[in-house]
Amino acid sequence: MTPLKALGGTSDILPEEAQAWQQLEEKARRVFQLYGYQEIRTPLIEEAAVFTSSLGEAAEIVTKQMYLFEDRGGRSVALRPEGTASVVRALIEHGLDKTSPLNRFYYGGAMFRAERPQKGRRRQFHQIGVEVFGSASPHQDVELLCLLKRLLEEWGLSGWKLKLNSLGCREDRAKIVEHVRATLAPQAAKLCEDCRQRLEKNPLRILDCKEEGCRKLCEGIDVYEAVCAPCKEHFEQVKRGLEALAVPFDRDPHLVRGLDYYTRTAFEVVHPGLGAQDALGGGGRYDDLVKLMGGSTPVPAIGFAVGIERVLMALESAGPKPPEPAARPVYVAAVSSAEIPNALELAEQLRRAGIAAFANLEERPLGRQMKQASSMGARFALILGADEVKEKMVMVKDMQTGEQKKESLADALRKVNHNA
Ligand code: HAM
Repeated sequence: MTPLKALGGTSDILPEEAQAWQQLEEKARRVFQLYGYQEIRTPLIEEAAVFTSSLGEAAEIVTKQMYLFEDRGGRSVALRPEGTASVVRALIEHGLDKTSPLNRFYYGGAMFRAERPQKGRRRQFHQIGVEVFGSASPHQDVELLCLLKRLLEEWGLSGWKLKLNSLGCREDRAKIVEHVRATLAPQAAKLCEDCRQRLEKNPLRILDCKEEGCRKLCEGIDVYEAVCAPCKEHFEQVKRGLEALAVPFDRDPHLVRGLDYYTRTAFEVVHPGLGAQDALGGGGRYDDLVKLMGGSTPVPAIGFAVGIERVLMALESAGPKPPEPAARPVYVAAVSSAEIPNALELAEQLRRAGIAAFANLEERPLGRQMKQASSMGARFALILGADEVKEKMVMVKDMQTGEQKKESLADALRKVNHNA
């Protein structure tokens, strides 16, 4: 049989890379705790309506990218293309907004979009995100963006830019769509083929078309012009708050985001090391979504998600980093196969004491075992021969100096523990 391969657009995360993933996740968890966020985990698979009812019928994620299929029971299900809609579904299903007026959640995990794979664009990718339910305050927007900044800093990212805009309320959105359509309709013939279709179905997407011709036609458009006075006041307060807390941002008159649920504040973080897919993360307010998805009362909300693969790409673009020192296990050697069970037992004893240990479990010469110990970076090798086992002693070899000394088990444990 020809060896099988991972599907295009999906990747294995091998142990060497997994270390970097774990570090990102740990740092993120720490930041979320500092800001009082709690973890929520939702299924990777949902009834398709969770996404079709929330992301927008014309959104490309729904029309072109969703992994959508009928399950064995004939239900229409989808692999989650993003996390927000699932978290809203869970909030409503469990009445979480009824038990607490303010909910702050974080989540992470795989998302699926059937896009054409390219640099920074995967079919299975991973997000870390947060969602806040129950606050309409512009100060909440400011605090969320402080959290985002802190997260990027903890990860060691620099050179990123925060792009910010306001999309106004539902009513404004309709005005914005009309404004963009009316401005571009007379020039329709000059738009690219995709954008000519978007003019009908989803004109806002034209604003982030990468084609030079379309960009030129959009130059004079500012969606903020169609935003109502209360939404403008909300946005002004967000901007003032960010300035006061030294969170740098650029107002982007074309930033509209690809999902329908956004209202008011919308933002994206871009990084120059990413190429064409330059968004590290994005998010915004979605004050109508809970009601829209069946919630009994409106619950104002805001959140963001960042793409982990893209964070790693951005970190790599800044140059190689010295690898973090790996855990250095204590190597437990067996002089002959007769001592292997004792080596195994001693390794277990070390692990119980919280010391990482590697026991030699194969019959092989001691010299080869010592080579293996060095290549693992072991600081000590504990060697067990027939005599040591009989005397309940152990030969402790310092792998740095090469010195070795027979010691009691208790002394050996103390020594390796002290130097762990
Ligand atoms: P999004 O902008 O669609 O927003 O995705 C957020 C981030 O996920 C992107 O900025 C990017 O880093 C990463 N990403 C998206 N698609 C791919 C892909 N195909 N391959 C690799 N990375 C990708 C959302 O998903 C919203 N749920 C964010 C949000 C949370 N809004 C409010 N709350």
